[in-house]
Amino acid sequence: MTLSPPKTQTKQYSWPGLIEAYRHYLPVTESTPVITLYEGNTPLIPVPYIAAQIGRQVQVFVKYDGLNPTGSFKDRGMTLAISKAKQAGARAVVCASTGNTSASAAAYARRGGLRVFVLIPDGYVALGKLAQALLYGAEVLSIQGNFDQALNVVKQMAEQYPVTLVNSLNPFRLEGQKTAAFEVVDTLGNAPDWLCIPVGNAGNVTAYWMGFCQYHEAGNCDRLPRMMGFQAVGAAPIVTGKAVAHPDTVATAIRIGNPANWQRAIAVREASQGEFRAVTDAEILTAYQMLATQEGIFCEPASAASVAGLLKLKDQVPTGATVVCVLTGNGLKDPETAIQQPGQQFHKCIKPELTEVAQVLGF
Ligand code: F0G
Repeated sequence: MTLSPPKTQTKQYSWPGLIEAYRHYLPVTESTPVITLYEGNTPLIPVPYIAAQIGRQVQVFVKYDGLNPTGSFKDRGMTLAISKAKQAGARAVVCASTGNTSASAAAYARRGGLRVFVLIPDGYVALGKLAQALLYGAEVLSIQGNFDQALNVVKQMAEQYPVTLVNSLNPFRLEGQKTAAFEVVDTLGNAPDWLCIPVGNAGNVTAYWMGFCQYHEAGNCDRLPRMMGFQAVGAAPIVTGKAVAHPDTVATAIRIGNPANWQRAIAVREASQGEFRAVTDAEILTAYQMLATQEGIFCEPASAASVAGLLKLKDQVPTGATVVCVLTGNGLKDPETAIQQPGQQFHKCIKPELTEVAQVLGF
C-alpha cells in the first residue's frame, strides 16, 4: 500500500490586512499588487480610569494603533501607498519623517522590493524608530534641520528624480489611514461623539474625517464625531494660526511647525464643529504616565496628546458621551523618554539575597 502525501495546508488568516478588508472603499483594482503586513484591526480599548476623571457617565476608549506591524498608524497609509507605487512601476520611494513614517515606509518598501530613502531631523528621532528604519534597510539621511525643512527637500526630490513621495501629501496615504475610522465605527456600531487625536502634519485628522464621512454616506453610521485635534504648545501652528520656525516639544513625533495638510485640517475642524487646542509637554507626560500606570497602555508621548487634550477639555464633554482617543504609536518606540520619567521605583545594585530584597520592598 502506498501512502498518499499529506495535503498542503494553506493557512487562512482571519484578518487579511486592511486593503482586503476594506477593498470596496479603497482605490485598488484586481491588478494592484497588495503589499501587506496584515496591518489594521487594532483594538479599541476602554480606559475606565481616564473616564472616571471626567465622570458624568462618559465612556472613553483608546484606538491603540501602536499595535500595527511597525508600531504606528502609518502602516495603514503605507500598505496602500507602497502597493500603488509598485503598481505604477516605481523602483524607489522617499519621505521626510519625525520617525514613524520612516520606519513604516522602510518596512513596506523593502517588503515590496523597492529602495527607500528617508530624511530625518538630526537628533530628534526616538531611538526605536531610527533602529527600525536602519534594520529594515532604508537609506537614512539625518538632516541638519527640522522636519519641515526635510519635507521641502523630499518634495523637490520627488519632482525632479524618479522616486515616489510617500509622505501624507501622497493621496494614497490618507486613503489607507481612513480605515481606522471604519474600524472605530465597526466596533462601536456608530461614530463616537468626540474623536480626540494628536496633530502634527495633520494628515491623520484629515484621514479619519474622510473615513467617518464615507462610512456615513454608505449608511454605516448615522452621525459624525466632533474632531478634537491636539498639538504640543511648542509646535502648535494650527492652533495659533502662525507657522513655527523652531518647533519644540518632548513629543518629537509631532514636532512640526508648518503642517503640509494645514488647510485641510482647518476644513475638518469647521465641517465637524471640532476644536484644535494646544497641550503642554507637562500635560502630555502626565497623560503618558496615567495611561501606563493606571490603564496598562504604553504609547509614545505624541500619542498621549490625545488623552492630555481630552483631560484638558473634560468640562466640555457632554454627559453620557462616547469619546475615542487615538493612540498613534507604541511606547516602545521611545524608551529614553519612558526611562526618564520621575516617580519610578528602580532600585539598583541589590545583592541577590532574600533579606535584602525583602527589606527594599518593605516586608
Ligand atoms: N502621532 C505619531 C506617533 C506620529 O508619528 C505622528 C506623525 C502624529 C501623531 C501626527 O500625525 O502628522 O498625520 O498629523 N508622524 C509623522 C512621521 C510626521 O514622520 O512619522 P499627522
